[in-house]
Amino acid sequence: MASSSTTQGAIVLSVFFLPILTYFLYIRLTTQAQSKSLNTKPQRDVGPLPAPTKITQLLIHPIKSCHGISVPSAKLLPTGLDLDRQWMWVSYPDYKFLTIRNLSKMTLIRPTYDSSTDTLTITAPAPNSMDEKLQFSIPAHPSASWLASNTSLVDATVWSAVTPAHCYSAELTNQFNDFFGREVRLVYKSPYSDVPRPLVSNGAPKVLGRNASTCFPDLMPILVGTEASIDELNTRLQAAEGLTIPVTRFRPNILVKGDATKPWDEDRWKTLRITSSAEKDGELVLDITQRCARCQVPNVDTESGEKNPRQPWDTLMKYRRIDEGITFKPCFGMLCVPRGEGMEIRVGDTLEVTEVTGDHRYLAGM
Ligand SMILES: *[C@@H]1O[C@H](CO)[C@@H](O)[C@H](O)[C@H]1NC(C)=O
Ligand SMILES: *[C@@H]1O[C@H](CO)[C@@H](O)[C@H](O)[C@H]1NC(C)=O
Ligand SMILES: *[C@@H]1O[C@H](CO)[C@@H](O)[C@H](O)[C@H]1NC(C)=O
Repeated sequence: MASSSTTQGAIVLSVFFLPILTYFLYIRLTTQAQSKSLNTKPQRDVGPLPAPTKITQLLIHPIKSCHGISVPSAKLLPTGLDLDRQWMWVSYPDYKFLTIRNLSKMTLIRPTYDSSTDTLTITAPAPNSMDEKLQFSIPAHPSASWLASNTSLVDATVWSAVTPAHCYSAELTNQFNDFFGREVRLVYKSPYSDVPRPLVSNGAPKVLGRNASTCFPDLMPILVGTEASIDELNTRLQAAEGLTIPVTRFRPNILVKGDATKPWDEDRWKTLRITSSAEKDGELVLDITQRCARCQVPNVDTESGEKNPRQPWDTLMKYRRIDEGITFKPCFGMLCVPRGEGMEIRVGDTLEVTEVTGDHRYLAGM
């Protein structure tokens, strides 16, 4: 009897419970597989990380759209390189931003920085004169009290953003009215402003995951470019028009060497790490928010202020419309937002790409 009840038990187990067990096991495995495929977006194979590279140039453009300065070292602040695009020319009385798009000869306005006096001196050729120069000087890091006695607070417009800025006196800058052919003012925004200018587009808090701001760049605090890519572009320009252009046309802040055998590799870069030789144990991470979609500003020769009617725009349009989010514009360089509080960086410092992605997509809206 005992053996028959064991047999009965085994029959009940196998006929009744085993299918149920198998069923639950099946359900568990398939839901696990489903949730796994839901959590990880389908990834295109974007390849291995590139080899570390070196910073070959640091460029600051104190006044938006005016001539840049190549510097051996610079402080990388959360808002961008110190002294980069903290000043801007605006129309008067409406304080609307003025750029190379409005007046290409703005690149002839040259700021120079004297570190011994911490002063910026701004010069430009006087209109209708060979040897006269327009010129004035201002503190490069003005104190709150200097700003209080020498500037007034205004609401300045950059694209669709309205942001508070310090406006210098008409007496200081009115020599530039003839240069612009209109009444202008110069405004300043501190990187430590009480009312920062929040990032939008791919830098908006919902996308970036944190609040970040900048002074007067079009979009993001930092633009990184590679020599590998400007060299590749120049090979095409040379073949098409016997022309080469300096990378300064694209107004990058951090230029790195890159890999000459892989131009445009930066299109997939996602996260960067700079190891500082100026600061002990210094490391700083930058999040790449998006590719930099270009307008025709790089057609302007920054030394002559003259705009080439076609290049490099036509060449770039042929092969650099590569971002699904902004297919009507060509891309050059990568826009970034630094993490952390800032760090001194130098030409020669190492830049590593620590993450690559197949998911870059430009979100319009500035
Ligand atoms: C300068 O050009 C920009 C872009 O084309 C435009 O949005 C802005 O309003 C212009 N500024 C002035 C003062 O006309
Ligand atoms: C700034 O204000 C101080 C104090 O009022 C004055 O001495 C100085 O000349 C001003 N500088 C400029 C460039 O206006
Ligand atoms: C950004 O700042 C706002 C206002 O200070 C705050 O409410 C919000 O939570 C912050 N967002 C993030 C992503 O940190």
